[in-house]
Amino acid sequence: MTLQNKHIYLDYNATCPQLPQVTAAMQDVVETAFGNPSSLHWAGRNARRKLDDARDTIAHYFGVDAGSVVFTSGGTESNNMVIQGMIAGSASGHIVLSAIEHPAVLQAVEQWCKRYPDWSFTLVKPDKDGRIDAETFMAACQDDTKLACLMWVNNETGVIQPVFEVSKACRERGISFFVDAVQALGKFEINLQQLDADFVSFSAHKIGGPRGVGALVMRRGVSLESLMIGGGQERGRRSGTENVAGVYGFATALGLQDFAPIQSLRDMFESKLLAALPDVCIFGQAHLRTANTSMFCVPGLEGETLLMQMDLMGFAVASGSACSSGKREPSHVLLAMGLPEQQARSSLRVSFGLEHDEATVYALITALCKIKARLRQMSGR
Ligand SMILES: Cc1ncc(COP(=O)(O)O)c(C=O)c1O
Repeated sequence: MTLQNKHIYLDYNATCPQLPQVTAAMQDVVETAFGNPSSLHWAGRNARRKLDDARDTIAHYFGVDAGSVVFTSGGTESNNMVIQGMIAGSASGHIVLSAIEHPAVLQAVEQWCKRYPDWSFTLVKPDKDGRIDAETFMAACQDDTKLACLMWVNNETGVIQPVFEVSKACRERGISFFVDAVQALGKFEINLQQLDADFVSFSAHKIGGPRGVGALVMRRGVSLESLMIGGGQERGRRSGTENVAGVYGFATALGLQDFAPIQSLRDMFESKLLAALPDVCIFGQAHLRTANTSMFCVPGLEGETLLMQMDLMGFAVASGSACSSGKREPSHVLLAMGLPEQQARSSLRVSFGLEHDEATVYALITALCKIKARLRQMSGR
């Protein structure tokens, strides 16, 4: 099979193509359950039933009560709900968080602590492999620490974090624990009873559900200051007419996208990459990463340039830099891991999906080698 002149999507950590079963289920809800779930008439009741079904399916999947699931517009809103809700709910306090959190946690904490100076925070750096040490993390907690935030899986490196150890330690010390599980969903089994965190955030589009739909799972009995004030939907925790088709699509997607079998393909890609380009450095130990993610740097080449060249050849991959105020900034995750700025700027992330096969890997390696040779020739090195 030749993959020449085809578009190959290798950016599943950014978003996944929506699954056809999800689209069909959503279409059905749009047509048959269009009412406002808060309305008392038949149309409202139809919509309410779909909403309840979706909530039950999601709660069952995570091993929690339906009342623990709050629907939101995605991972960003769920994360902000926790940070802003905690800070708004108390005059002062301290937050411990990893330095590799998604900006929807990191920047929310930074900005809200600036606005409320009686709140402060401590960032905990990962080791050189991108993993947070649970003991170091807990050592950053103070007597006034009210919230600890540790993502389950890092979106850039795919490195799995020690959330179980931190959850247990937080419980012993009476600290609320928040886990951003957006990149964990679909990567392995998730049982929230075992995790025992106070808040866990999810996003539907990382598993083939719709974009703009997510959930925050809250431990029974915990509360947060509500950000969205209005009609009192979601038990007063998040006002606003519910996106019934969206959450139904989310519930439909659960369990359909299992990334675990991709690991052998990802490992094959990495060994072939190292054989073809021995100066490449792959971040994070393979057994501590989710099955579909490879982040690596190609020394001497700008990640952004590589990405654009790959794009011209039909490959959609991500680079290790983010756009901030119109400037390309190197990844805060790689910098926190201790990488020099130049190396952080030379990085690329490939995140595989279920449709990929060995032909994808060969085409990808060939493209990377060609681009590297061309760019080296152009720069005269
Ligand atoms: C770890 C993590 N948290 C939060 C988000 C934000 O989720 P959403 O795109 O649903 O707002 C993402 C999305 O990339 C993510 O990877």
